[in-house]
Amino acid sequence: MTSLSAEQATRPAPAGAEALLRLSGVVAGYGGGDVLKGVDFEVPPGSITCIVGPNGAGKSTLLATVSGLLRPRQGRIEFRGRDLVGTSPKGILEQGIVQVPQNHSLFREMTVRENVEMGAFLVRDRAVVRRRLDEIVEQFPVIAERGKDKAGALSGGQQRLVEFARCLMLDPKIVVLDEPSMGLDPKTLRAVFATVRLMHEQGRTILLVEQNARAGLKLATHGVVLENGRVRFTGTGQEVLRHPEIGALFLGGAARSEPASPARQETTGEMNRD
Ligand SMILES: Nc1ncnc2c1ncn2[C@@H]1O[C@H](COP(=O)(O)OP(=O)(O)OP(=O)(O)O)[C@@H](O)[C@H]1O
Ligand SMILES: [Mg+2]
Repeated sequence: MTSLSAEQATRPAPAGAEALLRLSGVVAGYGGGDVLKGVDFEVPPGSITCIVGPNGAGKSTLLATVSGLLRPRQGRIEFRGRDLVGTSPKGILEQGIVQVPQNHSLFREMTVRENVEMGAFLVRDRAVVRRRLDEIVEQFPVIAERGKDKAGALSGGQQRLVEFARCLMLDPKIVVLDEPSMGLDPKTLRAVFATVRLMHEQGRTILLVEQNARAGLKLATHGVVLENGRVRFTGTGQEVLRHPEIGALFLGGAARSEPASPARQETTGEMNRD
């Protein structure tokens, strides 16, 4: 796979004071190697920010550092201006950053309703739990219809929606979704994305990783291109979607089946307009 040319990366984006979440110079990895090699980007409040990039680019690793599951070796992760590095995963959930992981994560032998209720495990006030559950049941018909069924009996798309519902029990400030479309047929994908759009319309900020880059960027207000552990471009979803080189690299389908080559240009920043 080719890397983007030097001319197409620009200086780092100026630090906007208004970011809800801001990563600066984040280096992280497992064992000896670094997977993230100095990642900078911002999640504006009220955005759907979509991260795209080839398999192995470090997208899930990036979300793991945001959720506190992996501690960055260098750099800062600021949420509402406060550094999150060193905060426990539980502390990060309590602050309102709630992730739905890439692989299905429901307890298959428990009922749909029990799974959703468990989402509120950090909420002590039972009245709050009941109120949120009522709101969520109204928003997600699958919970009303299949609430007493075992979660494992649901289709993949229905399980995704239950996972979304479960995360909303914590009233998140940022909903973090890792490849919500994975394994879904086009019709189910549209239903799942419609729910993402609904959560956004209800005022949630969404940070999304999407293997289906074209669909993800269409849904998004902001796009981030991650390649080989570095941010290559940021822009609006449309800007990233329309960029010819991004199209060739990530949206044509072929790029995802090739191994990532080392990035030639390490500068991160805003996308260059043609
Ligand atoms: N728990 C782990 N231990 C060791 N290495 C890991 C671990 N998780 C991921 N990696 C490695 O880190 C690199 C980035 O993986 P990551 O899962 O973040 O990529 P990704 O962009 O999410 O890919 P995909 O599109 O396939 O989900 C890969 O080389 C992977 O093998
Ligand atoms: Mg991943």
